[in-house]
Amino acid sequence: MDTAKQPSRVLVVGAGTMGHSIAQVFAQAGITVDLADTNAGVLETAVRRIAANLSTVKEAEHSSGAEPTTSIENVLRFVKPTTDLSSVAAEAEFIFEAVYESLEAKQAVFDLLEEHTPKEAVIASNTSVLDLFEETKLSHPERLLCAHWFAPPHIVPLVEVVGGPETSAKAIDRTVSLLESVGKRPVVMRKFVPGFIANRIMMAMADAAEELIDSGACTPAEIDFAIKTSVGVRLGVVGIFQSLDFNGLDLIAGDRLPEELPSYLRSKVEVGDLGVKTGRGFHEYKSPAEALSSRDLAYLAVLHALETSTDFAPIH
Ligand SMILES: NC(=O)c1ccc[n+]([C@@H]2O[C@H](COP(=O)([O-])OP(=O)(O)OC[C@H]3O[C@@H](n4cnc5c(N)ncnc54)[C@H](O)[C@@H]3O)[C@@H](O)[C@H]2O)c1
Repeated sequence: MDTAKQPSRVLVVGAGTMGHSIAQVFAQAGITVDLADTNAGVLETAVRRIAANLSTVKEAEHSSGAEPTTSIENVLRFVKPTTDLSSVAAEAEFIFEAVYESLEAKQAVFDLLEEHTPKEAVIASNTSVLDLFEETKLSHPERLLCAHWFAPPHIVPLVEVVGGPETSAKAIDRTVSLLESVGKRPVVMRKFVPGFIANRIMMAMADAAEELIDSGACTPAEIDFAIKTSVGVRLGVVGIFQSLDFNGLDLIAGDRLPEELPSYLRSKVEVGDLGVKTGRGFHEYKSPAEALSSRDLAYLAVLHALETSTDFAPIH
């Protein structure tokens, strides 16, 4: 991995729901961020939103007794709002694009960036579903990639990173390095898929929820409560595949014939890697008893955090 020093300047294009919060991540890390938007009103709101976000972070630090981080004023000093993208583009080493989810809007920004930024500057798009590698044109496609943040970016650790067929490994490595250096937990995907990982799983859950409601089995409020008091506690600790390891992969395979199993499951079951109980499944385990105890301690910690912060009630 490229461990080059942090850039002194980052450019975020689009200061709306995602852009202001992405800019905040870099400002909090002491990196100057040019925050560009065509709408001056959005920029004013963005600065107010960053200040409000930081004040919530301060409140959390205060109530948990955590060491206070730098002051709101100090963070805001690193945020440089501008409506003139072309005047700041030349200084950028990294550009995080967060404009409207439209090919035309993104292509217009890329055209301007290609005209004004050094060709080594990485262009990282926050698109949710657009295949920009297929649908947009750049004269330096090796520097285009997706860095898909999960809302709200200043809080959620995940950033899904993926390149296209022409993206350079160096651009990916530099982006991962930068994201890690500002405290994020990037995952590099092997190929672009609309919705990336987390949103695709969320969408599958939303489809199942829709079916349940259509069937008349339960209400939206009941689904939210059921998820928060069960899956919500589990997924943050073990994810999906480690959860299966705890269930036992033979149980998951059930009475399906080997050829009916997905290959990733079949390859485990055939060699007897059945999860925690055999010491190996999708992950490795030293001892089933220790794994169960570590899992339960983590569940109890998450449960405690959820109970004390919301007691599973809707946020108002
Ligand atoms: N909202 C989410 O939860 C979320 C999550 C992940 C990814 N995304 C993706 O992030 C991107 C931005 O989404 P959003 O929700 O922040 O949108 P938004 O509408 O809140 O903000 C987009 C901003 O881009 C600005 N803009 C448009 N064209 C511009 C240009 N040429 N130059 C500079 N600024 C320009 C607009 O004025 C607007 O303020 C989209 O691609 C979206 O799919 C959104």
